[in-house]
Amino acid sequence: MDTISDFSGTTQTALLRDYLSLAAGSSAIQRVRAAGLAMWEVDGGRLLDVGSGNGEVARELSALLPEAEVTAVDHSADAVATASGLHDGSRVSYEVGDAYALPYPDGHFDGVRSERVLQHLAEPDRAVAEMARVLRPGGRLLLIDTEWQSFRVDGSPENFNEECLALLMEWQARARSVDSPPSGRTLRRRLVTAGLTDVRTEPVTLVFTDLAEAAPIMPIGAEMFAYVGMEDRAAGWLADLERAVADGTFLVTLTIWVAAGTR
Ligand SMILES: C[S@@+](CC[C@H](N)C(=O)[O-])C[C@H]1O[C@@H](n2cnc3c(N)ncnc32)[C@H](O)[C@@H]1O
Repeated sequence: MDTISDFSGTTQTALLRDYLSLAAGSSAIQRVRAAGLAMWEVDGGRLLDVGSGNGEVARELSALLPEAEVTAVDHSADAVATASGLHDGSRVSYEVGDAYALPYPDGHFDGVRSERVLQHLAEPDRAVAEMARVLRPGGRLLLIDTEWQSFRVDGSPENFNEECLALLMEWQARARSVDSPPSGRTLRRRLVTAGLTDVRTEPVTLVFTDLAEAAPIMPIGAEMFAYVGMEDRAAGWLADLERAVADGTFLVTLTIWVAAGTR
């Protein structure tokens, strides 16, 4: 089975495209992106989004900074085709490229960002070093990522949180979707290790009291568990979540970190 976090194969492409689009439209992810934008401090020039998926952020950036030249790069040709298909005429170019070997010269960009990508990589520090390489001196690198262990649920039995977390981790392992579940809280260390300065970090904790709002951000829908053959294992949990929705007590939280540093 191909990894669900990657654009490859028809099922995966459609699932990931829809998942990312729903996430992009959620006020929770908008809040994370706004925190990141404030920390990134870019005002134009050449901007790069690494692991750009559907290209939503690139288009939003272009709308915000019409003079900027925005490049959306993803290692998957399917992702780039999907993003190109959603193009709205803004000043964005969509390119195929690997985070480990970005196809750009040293110091080419005024700002580089990467959102919810490092968690999927076996060697995140190598990718961060590569992002720093293509950034001009004085430019800022913005990283955004989830800290999956922060996933918490209320309204359930005492030991339920550990069970939920175990199910989530098993889902991620089976889907081969996440290499580094703690990724979010490692971002500051990675920026410092890569030699960036003026590093700022901020946790953004998302709180959901509505299952439909939470589902695009975390794999807690039946479809996601069915995808990796875990529907039976997860049935009790999902039933409990639905019961909490029905009686109005549903609450889950998840922290996504934003961190930025100057080259
Ligand atoms: C969870 S998606 C996030 C997409 C987008 N950044 C967003 O926030 O909507 C992860 C993306 O990283 C891409 N990706 C994974 N490994 C990569 C690599 N080595 N180089 C470039 N892109 C990669 C995947 O194809 C996918 O589009």
